Amino acid sequence: MTAKTMDELVALCKRRGFIFQTNEIYGGLQGLFDYGPLGVELKNNLKQAWWRSMVYERDDVEGLDAAILTSPQVLKHSGHEETFMDLLVDCRSCNSRWRSDHLKKSTCPSCGSKDLTEPRPFNTMFKTNVGPIDDGTSFAYLRPETAQQTFTNFKNIVDSTSRNLPFGIAQIGKAFRNEITPRNFIFRVRELEQMELEFFVKPGTDEQWHQFWIKERLNWWSKQGVSENKLDLYDVPNKELAHYSKSTIDIMYKFPHGREELEGVANRTDYDLGSHTKNQSELSITAKVIKNSSSNAKLAIQDRETKNWIVPYVIEPAAGVDRGVLAILNEAYTVQKLEDGKERTVLSLKPHLSPIKVAVIPLKKNNEDLVSAATKLKGELQGLGLGRILLENSGNIGKSYRRHDEAGTPLCITLDFQTLEDQTVTFRDRDSMTQKRLDVKEAADFVKESVN
Ligand code: GAP
Repeated sequence: MTAKTMDELVALCKRRGFIFQTNEIYGGLQGLFDYGPLGVELKNNLKQAWWRSMVYERDDVEGLDAAILTSPQVLKHSGHEETFMDLLVDCRSCNSRWRSDHLKKSTCPSCGSKDLTEPRPFNTMFKTNVGPIDDGTSFAYLRPETAQQTFTNFKNIVDSTSRNLPFGIAQIGKAFRNEITPRNFIFRVRELEQMELEFFVKPGTDEQWHQFWIKERLNWWSKQGVSENKLDLYDVPNKELAHYSKSTIDIMYKFPHGREELEGVANRTDYDLGSHTKNQSELSITAKVIKNSSSNAKLAIQDRETKNWIVPYVIEPAAGVDRGVLAILNEAYTVQKLEDGKERTVLSLKPHLSPIKVAVIPLKKNNEDLVSAATKLKGELQGLGLGRILLENSGNIGKSYRRHDEAGTPLCITLDFQTLEDQTVTFRDRDSMTQKRLDVKEAADFVKESVN
């Protein structure tokens, strides 16, 4: 069973410290959220899982962490200055503003009026001043996608790694979009995080690679605990395609508020490298690119056999971290009826994503011997490098188990007075709630097996 409503998830996230509305004590700031103690661990674990699968487990991908502030030249030549627009309408009755493609039957969702302005384009990039002079001439954009700095670093990475086609560049980082109507919790936000791979291939092999990456990405989401029956593919029709795309397949997920995009896998052709390269006319660029007389780098690669210069095509799997977190929380959230008629809420997260891997709980919080044995065990388990091991010194076992069920902690280890006599401890499994007693010497192996 998964969450019935977004409200249940929002309540759990606040109660347990996964996600908070930002600037809440001053009334909040719309479309922006803060990840709390459990949220930051979950989010980091998700990003690490992506990085492991993209960079460490492949031999054809390099990593990058580029700057967020981006020169207007980059976003001019990428086409974002001209096309990164949403259509905006105002309601003349209640003065609210909406994205025109989010309206049903041209009606204001807030007051029901049909008295709306004509749609007009609104560029959703944020600008900021760079340097000490605020006269409008020295500004940068907060990047709307991580991808552009990957393209502008293409030559640096090829030169420093001697890569040949096909190969990819992976990047995880913040992106910013001045969404007209941010909504549905962390689904549509103004400050988001992306995990984007730009995979460079020989023109002509792009369609096979596109299919390859769609399959890879579906498999990866399934390994993160996202049910296959809640995922499906949407072949984006031509009229909805981004300006750079020849074909985009969106991986759709049934979020609590409806079926929406979790990740896009686009065939960006040679549009981006072709737009940012110098000497455009000397290269056989197939995409309709913006004329570039400012770039000082040739963004092409020499074929080792034919010696011809190729502007690679790009296949781009682009996933949202925040949407990933939301999907994973939705999948993991379960309310179970217990035999005694009570209910428990449990987050059945995959152990590699759990914010806390193990809670070590001394039965009595002010018993020095128990607390010191628990602290020693916590230290040993922390040394395994599996992630956060928490010493839970609240003195209430029942409450600790409930708290860790909701936190998604796969394993609790309790130390009681018997531990002091025979060095055995109790392991309690989150999902089955079964308990077993083992010698404390076996703890490290048992934990490695259970949560790794
Ligand atoms: N580089 C390609 C690109 O940015 P996109 O479909 O606009 O493509 C990629 O974004 C992913 O980023 C989306 O599939 C989604 O998961 C996430 N994303 C986009 N806008 C978002 C927003 N306002 N809030 C949260 N996530 C967003």
